[in-house]
Amino acid sequence: MKGLILSGGRGTRLRPLTHTSAKQLIPVANRPVLFFGLEAMHRAGIAEVGIVVGDTHADIESAVGNGSQWGLHVEYIHQEAPLGLAHAVLCAEEYLGDEPFVMYLGDNLILGGITNFVHHFLTHRPSSLILLAHVRNPQQFGVAELDASGRVTRLVEKPKQPKSDLALVGVYLFDHSIFDACKAIRPSGRNELEITDAIQHLIEHGLRVDAHLVEGWWKDTGRLEDMLEANRMILDSLEPAMHGHVDEVSDIHGKVIIESGARIARSTLRGPLIIGENTEIFDSFIGPFTAIGSGCRVEGSEIEHSIVLSDSSILHVGSRIEDSLIGRNACIVKSNGRPSAYRVMVGDHSRVEIR
Ligand code: DAU
Repeated sequence: MKGLILSGGRGTRLRPLTHTSAKQLIPVANRPVLFFGLEAMHRAGIAEVGIVVGDTHADIESAVGNGSQWGLHVEYIHQEAPLGLAHAVLCAEEYLGDEPFVMYLGDNLILGGITNFVHHFLTHRPSSLILLAHVRNPQQFGVAELDASGRVTRLVEKPKQPKSDLALVGVYLFDHSIFDACKAIRPSGRNELEITDAIQHLIEHGLRVDAHLVEGWWKDTGRLEDMLEANRMILDSLEPAMHGHVDEVSDIHGKVIIESGARIARSTLRGPLIIGENTEIFDSFIGPFTAIGSGCRVEGSEIEHSIVLSDSSILHVGSRIEDSLIGRNACIVKSNGRPSAYRVMVGDHSRVEIR
């Protein structure tokens, strides 16, 4: 079985960060979302992985390389434009050949991994195995309708009036019959070849499509709130670790990971949180569910429930920063005045002055 990770697309809902980098490389708990998918592939016993890339291919290729750090052999498949998930599958047809494959959307995170699903597929050999999860906002997903016996009867992409709350999770297993289905369908209203329509085509032609309900936690990290929730979940699942330096007057509570070269002085750190390599935290409070990347400087400030990418500075910001995603090389500096809370989404190389 081969793996196919989709890492093209535009990531419009995470602008401005996605103007300058791939959305699949935005980190949760200081690791790009995409890396969790690669790890899940490896744990499921998959060695050959194709990554579909688009405009942001250079960033993806330099972050992942040949995949050897995960014990994988990675190849890149170029998609000329984000014309849909089924289009991406067709781009990969030559790479995949006749082998069954697991397709993983590069911005999805499944805490429990994919090993069980791969095992089910290889044992029962349906044409496709799809994963479903109950969601509160089914309009934003592909939605499945099941009959009384639990078989999938219909799949609709982002329906205005969903018939169920069962969303398609971004992990799919297929045999080669998916290629004919992808060729048979037409572009949707958003002008994409939808994988949802291709699977519906399999069902209509009598091919077996199994469905598994995902019991554990799963997230499509397409929006800010989802990134923060993913960050929360992953931080909570990590073990504390101390590789940096903390002075004797600082207070550390809960699950805290401090990476090498980081320096903490006169500060309070309340986990779960992670402080990246060579980051300096002085006279500050870092609260729960915060990931601060490498090479950052936080001085005289308070921040919690946020993600800060590498090489950013947060200096003397009087009020607490929360629920925020701060891009690389960003600078947030207190000027004057006393606002009580800040909620910001700041792009790479931005600078925000707060009065
Ligand atoms: O997250 C689950 C949902 O993913 C499913 O419920 C939907 O049925 C499915 O269509 C998909 O919806 P999204 O609108 O969230 O897909 P998105 O455009 O965000 O693309 C998902 C990933 O695939 C993302 O990492 C970008 C990549 N991609 C996307 C397109 C459209 C490609 O590599 N090529 C593409 O042409």
